[in-house]
Amino acid sequence: MTTKRKLTPYEQNHLRKWAPKIDSDAIGDQPVEYTTGHVEFLGLDFLVTPDTLIPRLESEQMVTDALQFIDDHDLAHPTIADIGTGSGCLGISLAVKLAKRQIPYSIFLSDISLKALKVADLNAQRLLHSPENLFFLESNLLENFPKIQFDLILANLPYIPSKNIAGLDPSVKDFEPKIALDGGPKGNLFINALLDKIPHFLKKGGLAILEIDDTHDLKSFSFPKGISARITNDCFHKPRFLMVTL
Ligand SMILES: C[S@@+](CC[C@H](N)C(=O)[O-])C[C@H]1O[C@@H](n2cnc3c(N)ncnc32)[C@H](O)[C@@H]1O
Repeated sequence: MTTKRKLTPYEQNHLRKWAPKIDSDAIGDQPVEYTTGHVEFLGLDFLVTPDTLIPRLESEQMVTDALQFIDDHDLAHPTIADIGTGSGCLGISLAVKLAKRQIPYSIFLSDISLKALKVADLNAQRLLHSPENLFFLESNLLENFPKIQFDLILANLPYIPSKNIAGLDPSVKDFEPKIALDGGPKGNLFINALLDKIPHFLKKGGLAILEIDDTHDLKSFSFPKGISARITNDCFHKPRFLMVTL
């Protein structure tokens, strides 16, 4: 059964643009992005399905910070990993921005969900003229990765503590994939598992940017020896990104 709810101005505009014939009273709690199959991320039109998280505005900062890092370090051909790529929004928008600046790159996009990876692949074909330097990998974290050391690792892995899932807005908990949300009992399960592998996969002088829950602080994570980390805020002034170097 669908419930009638008042759409926000953003949702009304979104439906007007992508699905003007849809009866907005009939969409219930389903996010409008799943109704239309589209979402804008960094000014690019990404396809989404119920197998992919709907990219969030705050995650755009990861791409901006990655570009800044590439500029600051004059990287002529950065190697980049986007782990838990979902729709591919992070890795693909970074590729689009680098291509515009004629900076060559190699970007690995991975996810444990094959269905999400297929959406990411489709997005790459739509948004890039020559997506040949993108490599898609079905992988639990870094398990199936070749032995590469990356300049940049981006990861927006599930980070919501399991007990908080039931309290999320119905548009999130009833529609977005649980595999994209649930970060285990404390929300740090996947991030800690990734941190453990970072010394093998990040170049000395490289940077890993990991999105985190705003209830987390540095004490929420286990850092292997040799890692330095700090937390930066998102566009809503909430602690959101773990910036990790070796
Ligand atoms: C929060 S979503 C982020 C999606 C996208 N990167 C974004 O920023 O919108 C997390 C993604 O991680 C994937 N994922 C969950 N567990 C994983 C694991 N163990 N290894 C790799 N990917 C995983 C999910 O399938 C999902 O696509």
